[in-house]
Amino acid sequence: MCGIVGYVGKRDSQNILIEGLKKLEYRGYDSAGLAVFTSDGLQITKSMGRLVNLENVLADAPLAGFIGIGHTRWATHGKPSDVNSHPHTDNSKKFSVVHNGIIENYMSLKEELAASGHVFVSETDTEVISHLIASLYEGDIVKAVQKAITRMTGAFALGVLTEYEPDKLVAVRFFSPLIIGVGEGENFIGSDIPAILDYTRNVYILNDGEMAVLTKDGVELMTLEGNFISRELFHVDWDIVTAEKAGFDHFMLKEIYEQPKAYRDTMGSRIDPSGKRIVMNELKMTDEYIHRIQQIHIVACGTAYHAGMVGKSIIEKLARIPVETDVASEYRYRSPIITPNTLVVVVSQSGETADTLAALREAKRCGARVVAITNVVGSSVAREADDVIVTWAGPEIAVASTKAYTSQLIAFYLFGLYLAQTLGTQDEAYIADVVTELKLLPDKVEQILQHAEIIKEWAEQISTHDNLFFIGRGIDYAVVLEGSLKLKEISYIHSEAYPSGELKHGTLALIEEGIPVIALATQPELFEKTVSNIKEVKARGAYVFGIHTLGETELVKAVDQVLEIPQTIPLLSPALSVVPLQLLAYYASLARGNDVDKPRNLAKSVTVE
Ligand code: M6R
Repeated sequence: MCGIVGYVGKRDSQNILIEGLKKLEYRGYDSAGLAVFTSDGLQITKSMGRLVNLENVLADAPLAGFIGIGHTRWATHGKPSDVNSHPHTDNSKKFSVVHNGIIENYMSLKEELAASGHVFVSETDTEVISHLIASLYEGDIVKAVQKAITRMTGAFALGVLTEYEPDKLVAVRFFSPLIIGVGEGENFIGSDIPAILDYTRNVYILNDGEMAVLTKDGVELMTLEGNFISRELFHVDWDIVTAEKAGFDHFMLKEIYEQPKAYRDTMGSRIDPSGKRIVMNELKMTDEYIHRIQQIHIVACGTAYHAGMVGKSIIEKLARIPVETDVASEYRYRSPIITPNTLVVVVSQSGETADTLAALREAKRCGARVVAITNVVGSSVAREADDVIVTWAGPEIAVASTKAYTSQLIAFYLFGLYLAQTLGTQDEAYIADVVTELKLLPDKVEQILQHAEIIKEWAEQISTHDNLFFIGRGIDYAVVLEGSLKLKEISYIHSEAYPSGELKHGTLALIEEGIPVIALATQPELFEKTVSNIKEVKARGAYVFGIHTLGETELVKAVDQVLEIPQTIPLLSPALSVVPLQLLAYYASLARGNDVDKPRNLAKSVTVE
């Protein structure tokens, strides 16, 4: 996700901005740029790719000056490119803006400004802000920014400079984080504390709806209406590594806790204001094409494949289209039957997984239409697919995927509902009910996270074992596969996930005294059968940890320890039930003293086949 840094003071701003952006690299980005007020006026340098590319350009043509803004961009509106990178400017090149967030009404603002002669060079929403501020400027940059904000809807954090008032840096927070760093004869802005922590530990945390005007000699805080605010400085006493993790011990734990936000962001504007229908403006496929789809192949690797297994249940149940799931590394070698009416859905957090990319290319070669579900705009998978559904999980740093997986589930719910409403396979009232429940999921995840201590105790118990089993039926089976992968990946405990009813066909021979079994039971129509399967393993000495939906009391008697999760529509339960399994893996890894975020032998992005 994008990063902002700003500086005003007595030192060379270029180095401070670059060093600040380096501290924000962990957020993920695809391009970077700086705007500095130099002896030649406001100068902007930008470069696609890693920060080192920008540094190389600046090595040949440095930007010398004492006030500047910098940005790392994670593409949303428009592909990653030099021209789409921030900072943006207006036609006079006297104003410059860096921006995190999304301006929802940028198209109408752009049309209005274009009609009065403004010429745009990028595809971004941010460029519109610089033109808007320029058009409203009447000798006071603070007033121009305030007026511009009244015209903008969405969520944003801004850093703004103008050549007309070269001693001022204006910062705005409106539902996108921004902090102000206060130094001696110098002041800073940052989208996150690590950006400024090398220079000062004294910060003002802006609240939504507040702005700041920085000069080298001071900082004025005010509301967006211009009323001055007085606030105590906050002293940061963590080190940089901790700050990047926002106080969490590991990225994985931070990312688990970020899931409610990731759910909300992924649903975002895809649920129409009536709350009853799905809007997927990003899809280029026509309704006529959707009516022609005869089968769907979902292709992915690892955790993304497990999301695809849940996706199969979702699409088959909602849209009544037959779905096959394939591990991407196998797909093209099995000569899949692909017809022009086969839709292939590839799922990839990174969008760069070589196996998934190869499967995508094979599907296209055979004439299929490809939809990508990915977390990275501008990734190879996103560029090569016909349609892209972006999951707005934000950068995922831990190798073990958590919020990317659950955001993929949300994307499947949205897509399945969209297909159903287009095909008329579900009535409007049912779709509205599912949408209502979907919107409740983030709060329910928060409720589960409040019980992390119970899972921690379970994890400590299982961490002394070398083998264990996960069982579940129906959609719960897809979820326990993910729980088992997560546990193997970071705790190095061997585990197997089985459909509960399948154990007796062989695997039951491995159940012996004391072996832990994690049983997931969230599907009412399968509940009694699952309880019977639990009794089978209990009778052979297993120690059973049961996770079930609130209200199903029979399981409590059948297992040794139990965790209840909130009720939802059974089809939506994976978006809740996987959360305790993620925590179980996390705490088991911790109990075993492993490197949670960087497990042995594994990489975050697997770009080899
Ligand atoms: O970036 P992708 O979603 O394509 O990655 C696919 C797998 O490599 C990934 O999900 C992997 O299984 C995770 N490390 C599991 O936590």
